[in-house]
Amino acid sequence: MAKKQKIKLHSVKGMHDTLPSEQFIWDKLRKEIKNTAEAYSFSRIDTPILENLSLFERGIGEETDIVEKQMFVLPSSGGERMVLRPEGTSAIARAYIQHGLSRVSQPLKVYQEGPFFRHENPQAGRYRQFHQAGFEIIGGENDPIYDVQIIMVVMRLLRNLKLKNLSIHINSIGCKTCRTIYKKKLLKYYKNRKKQICNDCNKRMLKNPLRLLDCKDDKCQEIKKGAPSVIDDLCSFCSKHLRDVLEYVEELKIPYQIDPSIVRGLDYYNGTVFEVFSEVKSPEGEIVLSPALGGGGRYNYLFNALGKGGTYAVGAALGLERIIETMKATGVNVPIIKKKSVFLITIGAEAKKKGIVLLEDLIKTGVNIKESMGKNSLSAQLRAADKKGATWALILGQKEVFKESIILRNLKTGSQETIFLKNVLAKIKKKL
Ligand code: HAM
Repeated sequence: MAKKQKIKLHSVKGMHDTLPSEQFIWDKLRKEIKNTAEAYSFSRIDTPILENLSLFERGIGEETDIVEKQMFVLPSSGGERMVLRPEGTSAIARAYIQHGLSRVSQPLKVYQEGPFFRHENPQAGRYRQFHQAGFEIIGGENDPIYDVQIIMVVMRLLRNLKLKNLSIHINSIGCKTCRTIYKKKLLKYYKNRKKQICNDCNKRMLKNPLRLLDCKDDKCQEIKKGAPSVIDDLCSFCSKHLRDVLEYVEELKIPYQIDPSIVRGLDYYNGTVFEVFSEVKSPEGEIVLSPALGGGGRYNYLFNALGKGGTYAVGAALGLERIIETMKATGVNVPIIKKKSVFLITIGAEAKKKGIVLLEDLIKTGVNIKESMGKNSLSAQLRAADKKGATWALILGQKEVFKESIILRNLKTGSQETIFLKNVLAKIKKKL
């Protein structure tokens, strides 16, 4: 008989459980995402977790880190191979084309929120399953006003979450015309420094030169500082587009800086690209930038790649784990809202029978009622009531069942009264 494999009783590397005790912060986040999105007229869209591999190969680009190294590809049983979605924008673009959403009022403003998957090396702020809230404006005009509307919604959400010292790093990576000229300049600069850069960057020179500016290796960081800036090579259209975006950002008094090293890891962008950071204290007490809380930009080229050229689009996504970590690191307090509750205690078999019906009746009418009816003794149930933080207890014993009554005890003061069962709902509603 084949030897049984030992069960690993921990979650998969880079993927985490969210325990009941942590749900309140996620609830707060999801509520804020919904409220902010709706305030800025974004409607919710949901796409499946699984998509066809070719969507991302075409959309994000075959020579990006995500497609080359980070996709969870499912074994295929004939037909096209499927992947766990590594990002949301390509899937939303697919849905826009598939459902003919260009026929509704343009531009279409949509948001989504959910889990995404990338096979990365897990470390603080970088996971294999993580959550994003994404905002997209698709269709309509190629107008910088939409680029800034995306920046607005993202910043408003972060500010509503009480995150401070936020700053947007903005760049433009131009269009195909100006980017081609820039790439040549960049390659010329790096060709003379081949020996000083990391192996990955040597590969990037051949495959995806813009990503040279994205490298986090210490020695490459130094080289990067002297690299030519794409902004100097923007064509007149791209240059004006960026200027307009910056003017709107200034009008809105959003703190920003132009950062030529922001190039983004996905091929579909053109023009405006940006990332949002917060200033946080390092363990050594220095003020440093958080990992990017979010990023985005204009991605008109995604629609070219998917066969619907001429569709303009801009968007951004925020990383929810990073937001929560930054909230914790900067001391943002999310109060747990505790609703007053009543705890039902039953003693004896008859009381349990009557109690289960009472429990159902009270839940039906919206009373915040808790119980631990599997426990038999009064003291064990009182301890459970205390743990759950209940304010009131309803105690049903044999005597009460017989007299069609119930004891209502204030768990804070210990005072109690006996009331008729038929009056319990009205009484409890008054107390809570
Ligand atoms: P992205 O920069 O790849 O962009 O991801 C957006 C945000 O998701 C990041 O800034 C980060 O906060 C979070 N994030 C990404 N990877 C991880 C990870 N492995 N672990 C934890 N958090 C992570 C996009 O995904 C684009 N689709 C954004 C976009 C929307 N562009 C246009 N529209």
